[in-house]
Formats: sequence, C-alpha cells, structure tokens
Amino acid sequence: MKSNAPIGIFDSGIGGLTVARAVKAVLPDEQLIYFGDTAHLPYGDKSTAAIQAYSVKITDFLLSKGCKVVLIACNSASAAAYDLVKEYTGSRARVFNVIDPAVGFVREQYKNTCVGLIGTKQTVNSGVYSGKIHSQTPNIDFRSLATPLLVPLIEEGFVNNEISHGIIKQYLDDPSLSGIEALILGCTHYPIIKKEIVALLGEDVKVIDSAETVAKALKGFLDYHQLAASARPGEDQFYVSDFTPAFESITKTFFGEKVHLDNYRLWE
Ligand code: DGL
Repeated sequence: MKSNAPIGIFDSGIGGLTVARAVKAVLPDEQLIYFGDTAHLPYGDKSTAAIQAYSVKITDFLLSKGCKVVLIACNSASAAAYDLVKEYTGSRARVFNVIDPAVGFVREQYKNTCVGLIGTKQTVNSGVYSGKIHSQTPNIDFRSLATPLLVPLIEEGFVNNEISHGIIKQYLDDPSLSGIEALILGCTHYPIIKKEIVALLGEDVKVIDSAETVAKALKGFLDYHQLAASARPGEDQFYVSDFTPAFESITKTFFGEKVHLDNYRLWE
C-alpha cells in the first residue's frame, strides 16, 4: 500500500458525501475518489444480495483506481456487504465500514447503559449493529428504530422547518427509544439534521455521528501505519453511476460545497 494512493469512498448516492466531508476535515491532504451508485439508489430498501453485488462491483472500480483504502460510507451497505467486500479486497486495500467505529465508541463510553440507533430499514433489520454491539458490550440495553422517511425528507430539502421537525420528533418520541443515553445516527444523511436531533433530544443524550467516528478511525489507522499522504497527490474525483443535474446540485448540502460529478456507467 502506498501512502500517496487515494482513499476510495462509496455510497448508494450523494448522502455519503457527509462521510467524505468528515474525512476531509481530519485528513485534508488525502486525495478522495468517491463513487455514488445513483443508478441503484436507495439501498435502504434493497435486498442484502443486491447490495452485495453492487458493493463488490464498486469496490473493483475503486481498486482499479489504486485506492489504499475502501471506505463503505453507506450504513446499509456496511451492514449488508462489509464482510464480502473485505474478503474480496484481501490485501489489496484496507476496508472500513461506518458501523465498527461507532460500535467501538459505544463499547468504550456507554457500557451498562441504554443506547439507541436510527437508520434505514436495511440497516436496522439486518441486525448487524445490534449483533456487534451486544457481542462487544453484553450488558447494554440496545434499541433501534427504522426511520425511512428521513432520507427523502432531507433529499427534498425539508430541513429545519415545521415538517421536518414534526417527523423527526415523532420518530424520536417512539416508545422504543425512551430512556436512551446515546443515539447512533446510522445513516449517511442524518448529519444534515443532527442539530435538529440534538435540540429535540436535549443535552442529556449524546448523539453519535457515524461519519465522524469512521473519519477518526481512518485517521488513526493511516497515522499508525504511516500511510497518510505527505502532500496532496491529486484532485478529488467524484463519480456517479447515473448523472442528473439534481444530484450535482444537492452535493452542496452534503459536502458543504458543490462538486462536479462525473458520469461513470459502471453497469453497462
Ligand atoms: N446511504 C444510505 C445509508 O446510509 C441511505 C440512503 C439509501 O437508502 O440509499 O443507509
């Protein structure tokens, strides 16, 4: 693995740019190669088998670009395809998912407490978060809730208004989340509504942002193995499997600045 090789990041679409943004914040000298599978969006309602097939093909693309790391930014793909992607990649690159760092944070900070998770149906119903949390933190009271309305809400720009407030509140008031001391944001899109979630939960509940925890874990890995880039090796690249101008304009919401998307028809 070469330190000046790029970091590959993939997601079902544009939402994973929140993870790319968190990575950039702690590793500004790295070159990113981002792939958003907009042709198959959303992954949150897809079968495990479909997500696995998409994820392996995208990983192949990122490996062909010489990436030293493949970061699965999508929680749904992290739940469905991490083991397979890791096996497929072997020693060619280091594979990260967004679930393990958040699970590690819970193990270190929230033993013997009640912790919640919100995410897509795929992420919650897969039981991957729950399985990993229970095996590492046996005395925990772990709750999870699928919150499928939040992704379309955020993509349509319904943020910080009465409608978003009402829907988020309704989800957070669900009895299954009562008594939690921390809440994992288990979806690429949720950092966009983090402020609203923090305000609704109050200061006694810690909000765990899986984009930030994976960015920290990635930095720790690169520093420890002396694999961090010494100087910026090249420009960041952003690919999507199906381009529309709407996808390009929404990049600003998730990345903080508008980026140019290259159409790469991986499925043809
Ligand atoms: N990227 C997905 C996730 O983090 C959310 C959007 C989708 O369902 O594709 O689970």
